[in-house]
Amino acid sequence: MNDINFGGKVIWFTGLSGAGKTTLANEFQLFLKSKGLNTRILDGDDLRKGLNQGLGFSDNDRSENIRRAAEVAKLFLDSNFIVLCSFITPKNEMRNMAKSIIGEGNYIEVFVDCSIEECERRDVKGLYKKVREEKISDFTGISSDFDIPHNPDLILNTESNNLITCLEQLKILIGVN
Ligand code: ADX
Repeated sequence: MNDINFGGKVIWFTGLSGAGKTTLANEFQLFLKSKGLNTRILDGDDLRKGLNQGLGFSDNDRSENIRRAAEVAKLFLDSNFIVLCSFITPKNEMRNMAKSIIGEGNYIEVFVDCSIEECERRDVKGLYKKVREEKISDFTGISSDFDIPHNPDLILNTESNNLITCLEQLKILIGVN
């Protein structure tokens, strides 16, 4: 992998809702900022309030959500930012699209691995409860598929590793300490 000082990178966190993508991105951003690096977070929940408002959770809408997010990530990448993207990105074809927009050499895929049972137990946003009450349809991992990533650059299991351990692995991955 290129030295991080030679340019930006996009770290693409994929995983179930509640797996810990946003937490990892936020904490890793704090670390990168402390090293004086330019960073930008792009998060599914945030983008869906603005740029991606109106998109739902069908495969087509999710693909469009990811396409736009990847295009925005590319803009920041071109300005040498380290871009931390947190999107469920449930299908391999969606991840491949993001990779091809961003460019293979600059796309780092991190699978934030956590069982659906644990995500449901955490239920940080109360969404799993709503899914069980049938108030939300097409929910990833329950009523909509999540493909296990084929070939991620890193797998972070947030059930068996604590936050500090996960952050250490991210630091090693991009070569910043
Ligand atoms: S993606 O599939 O298109 O990548 P994205 O990461 O933008 O999804 O948004 C996921 C977030 O939307 C979840 O963390 C959750 O807060 C919310 N959400 C609302 N409805 C759903 C649903 N049906 N499936 C998954 N997430 C949902």
